[in-house]
Amino acid sequence: MAGIVYGLGPDYFVKFVEVDTPSMTLSLICPTKDPAPWVAAIKAIDSGIDLRVWPDDGDKADVTFALVWAQPQGIFAQYANLQVIASMGAGVDNLLKDSSIPEQTTVVRMVDPQLVSQMGDYVLAASLNHGRQFLNYAQQQQRRQWQPLAPQNMGDITVGVMGLGQIGNAVATRLVQVGFRTIGWSRRNKSIEKVQVFSGQQQLADFLAASEILVCLLPLTPETENILNAETLGQLPQGAYVINVARGNHLVEEDLLLLLNNDHLAGACLDVFRQEPLPQEHPFWRHTKVTITPHIASLTNPVSVAPQIVENYRRMQRKQPLMNQVDLRQGY
Ligand code: GLV
Repeated sequence: MAGIVYGLGPDYFVKFVEVDTPSMTLSLICPTKDPAPWVAAIKAIDSGIDLRVWPDDGDKADVTFALVWAQPQGIFAQYANLQVIASMGAGVDNLLKDSSIPEQTTVVRMVDPQLVSQMGDYVLAASLNHGRQFLNYAQQQQRRQWQPLAPQNMGDITVGVMGLGQIGNAVATRLVQVGFRTIGWSRRNKSIEKVQVFSGQQQLADFLAASEILVCLLPLTPETENILNAETLGQLPQGAYVINVARGNHLVEEDLLLLLNNDHLAGACLDVFRQEPLPQEHPFWRHTKVTITPHIASLTNPVSVAPQIVENYRRMQRKQPLMNQVDLRQGY
């Protein structure tokens, strides 16, 4: 694209020089999401951004910024001038599996208070449903059975939050505010007010043994894949409840079924699955101890995150450091 550079010549006359500057285009690559609300939200902030939607995004050499979700693997090889890839969500595990991400590209993700508070709402709802026996009452209702069950005080239930990143930390704090006894586990030691934090592999067993409700909010990395398995879930106290709101691949599904069926676990609330949508024939659908939601615990609202997308686009243009960068070595 031709641009004009205004400059002062040696004799202090303004010069106009035609130079070739690369075009800066933002392309949305999101085959499983409707791009329209994203385009509208970005345009509402900056109508000047050259915004295109894959697959009809014209000359791919123009594209410097890709906003992506569930992109076809290998697609970035087509974009020779890509500088930034932004995940439309908080998670980047699927994105980072793509070996076509060019080396010089900066990857960013969404960090958004709405995402955090929605996750807090979901975990609270699931924890309270379990604690106040709503799931058992729903079954009793099916049988027209009037049977009061022993109530549990929130302060007598220990919730263990696995993963104390930005979202896990906020969720743990929210649980404390509501009155749950709250503990947490993370790779490195952290300090969160009124939350007992366990860290590293050596403290995992103690953390699990104390978690009456286990909430998985870990990033999915090779280290955390299959971390919820027969061995770890078996270390939870008898009658524990499992909430997975991170990624399906954290959980070995057959192992969970085994521990539900032998009554070691009281139940599970699952928002994410190894295969999504959950296949029709999957045993979770009809399991009386399993509550299923279709990956909705925390959904990115385009209006809420458009300001950070536009800000990062402008920073890219100005060659400034971007917000919410992903550490590619750590994988989150
Ligand atoms: C949703 O799963 C996200 O990563 O934002």
